[in-house]
Amino acid sequence: MQKLIIKGKRYLNGKILISGSKNATLPILAACILSNNIKLQNIPLVKDIFTMVELLEFIGLKVKIFKKQNTLEILNNGNKINTLAPYRLVKTMRAGVLVLGSLLTKYKKAKVSLPGGCAIGTRPVDLHLFALKKMGAKIKIKNGYIIAEAKKGLRGSTIKFPSISVGATENALLAAFNAKGKTILKNCAIEPEIRDLISFLIKLGANIKFSGRTITINESINKKLKANHEVMFDRIEAGTYLIASALVGERITIDRINPEIIKTEINTLKKIGVKIKKDKSSITILNSKYLKKINISTKPYPGFPTDLQAQLMVLLTQAEGTSKIKEDIFENRFMHVPELNRMGAKIETNNKIAIINGPTKLTGAEVMATDLRASVSLVLAGLVAENRTVINRIYHLDRGYELLEKKLKSCKAEIRRV
Ligand code: UD1
Repeated sequence: MQKLIIKGKRYLNGKILISGSKNATLPILAACILSNNIKLQNIPLVKDIFTMVELLEFIGLKVKIFKKQNTLEILNNGNKINTLAPYRLVKTMRAGVLVLGSLLTKYKKAKVSLPGGCAIGTRPVDLHLFALKKMGAKIKIKNGYIIAEAKKGLRGSTIKFPSISVGATENALLAAFNAKGKTILKNCAIEPEIRDLISFLIKLGANIKFSGRTITINESINKKLKANHEVMFDRIEAGTYLIASALVGERITIDRINPEIIKTEINTLKKIGVKIKKDKSSITILNSKYLKKINISTKPYPGFPTDLQAQLMVLLTQAEGTSKIKEDIFENRFMHVPELNRMGAKIETNNKIAIINGPTKLTGAEVMATDLRASVSLVLAGLVAENRTVINRIYHLDRGYELLEKKLKSCKAEIRRV
């Protein structure tokens, strides 16, 4: 099994180019079922995207990958469509459940494996099903599968989500694409990746309006069979390298981003004392010597993202004073804490709260990755720690970080895969 070995305490300089967003690409790929001929650019070549491509191919779409250009071409000629998403493909990547909305709205039926829990929590799909039922789907759960049917097609409806979910908002948007009449979605997630999905659906001819947390989808008679789309930048990857730069950067530029989209992250880092220079499509982090404690909760966008909580925690181990992080999205997302404590951090957790006592000197150790973002937090800890850190189970990292070692090495980090 592959491992990453990092020699820490090296000061980094250089430029990091941010890849396309994994979490925007996944729902957009699910939306490709709705059309015939799609070209997608700025696709991150990471494991989760290959799994989604495999799922689309299983369903019957033809996908061509142009690796050098980070481009995909997806054709749906409507022949031999299999309205099934099998367990083996959904269990490793929960976003597989997003094909439910597209299949059901286009083919009037779908059988999609329940994704099951994962390291960070139980992660149910009740909100996805709630929305589809409101649109007229008949749904039963049998042998671990969601079996959904809408013999006469889905119909528009007013749906108020009882709580905010990114995936449920995306599935409802996809389902509304072919629904008869008007769909109004209230209390939606408004993550930038959802806005990217909406701009893609508009290119496919959807009529969608956005206001606060309400999204209105009017029935459209002008569907397009062909579209091109360039996926937005990965704001979580950008945030991860911003935090890495705050930890060990002398001068690092994070390029190919839109700083406006990550205002909360920038302001949080500024509060901690990180020196940041913003440009139109890049941010430069300067050597930040004195870091201060902070109290923060993770929240749906535009709040601080749960996907950056573990990385921020590493930064706070280097800040003066006692910081507090409340994890408000997932119930079990502090799995990195015992590993960080083995490296010398002083972090206590109580239910949703983590108390970080800083600053502490971190020292290299052999550690184990548990999920995507927890894994990358161990990489950040390894960069700031003395001596050698060995990270096991790095397949989690490969699910979501394109060219991680190459990007860090270009800034002179000592990191290698064995
Ligand atoms: C997406 C992101 C993930 C991110 C998360 C929150 C993708 C592929 N993944 O995941 O990286 O961490 O948003 O920003 O984009 N919930 C329910 N019932 C449901 C659905 C969700 O109770 O039917 C709960 C979840 O357990 C969780 C919370 O709602 O506690 C938010 O989850 P959700 O926004 O749905 O996350 P995902 O779409 O799975």
